[in-house]
Amino acid sequence: MKISVIGSGYVGLVTGACLSDWGHHVVCVDRDAEKIASLNTGVIPIYEPELEILVRENAAKGRLTFTRNLADAVSDSDVVFIAVGTPPRPADGEADLSYVYDAAREIAGALRGYTVIVDKSTVPIGTGDVVEHIVSLARPDADFSVVSNPEFLREGSAIADFTRPDRVVIGTEEPRARAAMLEVYERVEAAGLPILVTKRRTAELIKYTANAFLATKLTFINEMADLCEHVGADIDDVAQGVGLDTRIGDKFLKAGPGYGGSCFPKDTLALLRTAQDHGVALRLVEDTVSVNEARKRRMALKVIDAAGGSVTGKTIAVLGLTFKANTDDMRASPSIPLVELLQRAGAHVRAYDPEGMDQARMLMEDVEFSTGPYECAANADAVVLMTDWHELTQLDLDRLHGVMRSPAFIDLRNAYAPELLEAHGFTAIGIGRSSKSHPDSLSPEPVGDTVEFKTLSARPGPAEAMVEPSVRLVSVG
Ligand code: UDX
Repeated sequence: MKISVIGSGYVGLVTGACLSDWGHHVVCVDRDAEKIASLNTGVIPIYEPELEILVRENAAKGRLTFTRNLADAVSDSDVVFIAVGTPPRPADGEADLSYVYDAAREIAGALRGYTVIVDKSTVPIGTGDVVEHIVSLARPDADFSVVSNPEFLREGSAIADFTRPDRVVIGTEEPRARAAMLEVYERVEAAGLPILVTKRRTAELIKYTANAFLATKLTFINEMADLCEHVGADIDDVAQGVGLDTRIGDKFLKAGPGYGGSCFPKDTLALLRTAQDHGVALRLVEDTVSVNEARKRRMALKVIDAAGGSVTGKTIAVLGLTFKANTDDMRASPSIPLVELLQRAGAHVRAYDPEGMDQARMLMEDVEFSTGPYECAANADAVVLMTDWHELTQLDLDRLHGVMRSPAFIDLRNAYAPELLEAHGFTAIGIGRSSKSHPDSLSPEPVGDTVEFKTLSARPGPAEAMVEPSVRLVSVG
């Protein structure tokens, strides 16, 4: 089929490259002249494993081209994907749809023959209706359908997620559009992978529901990690024990510093806006957003605590800055509030990341960027493992210990077994683990026929405002 993809960013480029690898003829369109020029020389402006090879191979075969000329691309296409950005508006977190609407207007002007217009960008429920209205208004004569086809790509594994998806979701009630989309994804159907065809608004909501659920599942296990630290349990074993339940599944149960990225933060806020617009309260999603934000900030307190209660005048080495491994993306990364709060507490912060430092330099001030993990840790009072890049989870611990001023290792991804760190002379602080230097829990003091527990309760909200209510449990019987 002849396909255009409008927007050559992360989603558009992955979509275009994979569809061309399936044998479709794909033209990727972007307004950015520099980006198009770079793509036409085989240079990929984003870090995504295997993408460069895929682009080069298919461009060499003439199945994948790049242009700024939207009209030429669209007028010759059976299917046109809109894969432009929908960034959150700073004012209220609402998705900025101006790029989507601009693309719809330009596409309208170039339509020739029946064309399927596909919303691939993550868009609020009902956006497909608006795109349809824009195109109809501009071209009452045009023969077209508007389809929702949300993406479920994870940065760092996007090619696999596109070519071997858990499912493809197609939102349309029009037979011609359905037939065209099944032809686009015929490789998926041939592989026996599920393709769900449903109503357009349902498809739009599936995307937000999936991301909000994943963010909530993750935030849940992160809160369980907090409880583990106070009751002497181990969150990784809790996650394993829970994940073996096939109703729950073992994915997205890895406790960490909180989620970041360009999707979860943006999509949960956009979903909340949609719910508010319809007078529906999504309290679980609201709590997920606020608990996650508080968690990211509370990680700094964890580091300060591990460094003896103060980091004033101390050097803290942060290993990993991106929101997760195998990406150069710093958007909403937990490292951003961590660095800011450590600096505010008087620390000198040094940092290293295999791919993210170019972006980090634009987001962080007064950080000393290092060329490698050992240079980063030289004479440091503590090391914080923030992102579990492979190279950062295979460190030479003797060498690391040898360069540091004091051996505090705060492992915010539980990448290392505490026993291993302690065997190499480190004071190991993890996530959801009790550590020798931090007593597991305040053991209950039996008081007559009642047992009184003092617990730390981390409520969502300013990290520093952690309250410490005492809970009186009355024994029964
Ligand atoms: C996510 C969704 O997974 C994807 O389907 C959607 O299309 C886009 O948003 P992405 O944001 O690229 O993908 O990353 P993902 O791998 O989902 O991780 C999101 C965040 O959760 C990261 O900060 C990651 O570090 C964190 N995470 C993920 C954990 O802390 N523990 C986990 O077990 C999984």
